[in-house]
Amino acid sequence: MPTTRTDRLDIRSSDDVVKVRQQTRTFAVEAGLSLVDQTKIITAASELARNTLDYGGGGLVHLEVIEDGARRGLRLCFEDHGPGIADVQQALRDGFTTGSGLGLGLGGAKRLSSEFHIESKPGAGTKITIARWKA
Ligand SMILES: Nc1ncnc2c1ncn2[C@@H]1O[C@H](COP(=O)(O)OP(=O)(O)O)[C@@H](O)[C@H]1O
Ligand SMILES: [Mg+2]
Repeated sequence: MPTTRTDRLDIRSSDDVVKVRQQTRTFAVEAGLSLVDQTKIITAASELARNTLDYGGGGLVHLEVIEDGARRGLRLCFEDHGPGIADVQQALRDGFTTGSGLGLGLGGAKRLSSEFHIESKPGAGTKITIARWKA
C-alpha cells in the first residue's frame, strides 16, 4: 500500500494539539476527503492528541496519506510511552474517564474512523492507529 505523503509531529503541549489538528486538515484535503469526513478525522485526531498529552505524558503522531488501488485516505498513528491502559474495553466505553473529561474521546474517535486499532501495555505506553478512507 504506497504512501504519498508523511509527517511526524511531537505532542508536548496544547499548541502541539492545535498543530496536529491543522496538519490533519492539510492531509485530509490532500487525501480528497469530503468536508464532513475532514471534520470527522480532525475531531478524532484532536481527541487522540489530547489523550496523548494528558494521559500519555506526551508523545508523537505519524500522519500519512495512503493509497490502495484507486482508494485514497489518511492514516494517523499516535504513540506515547506513558502508563498505558490497563483495560482497553473499559477505556473505550462512553463515559469512562480516569481524568476530568467526559469519557467520550476514545469511543468517539473509533466511531469517526473507518479503521481503529489500539495497542497498550501497562507501564510501557499506548499506540493508537486510525484511518479514514475517501467515501
Ligand atoms: N494515551 C493514553 N495513555 C493512558 N491512558 C489513556 C490514554 N488515552 C486514554 N486513556 C485512558 O482512557 C480513558 C478514556 O479516554 P477518553 O475516552 O478520551 O476520555 P477522557 O479523555 O474524557 O478521560 C482516559 O480517562 C484514560 O484513563
Ligand atoms: Mg480524551
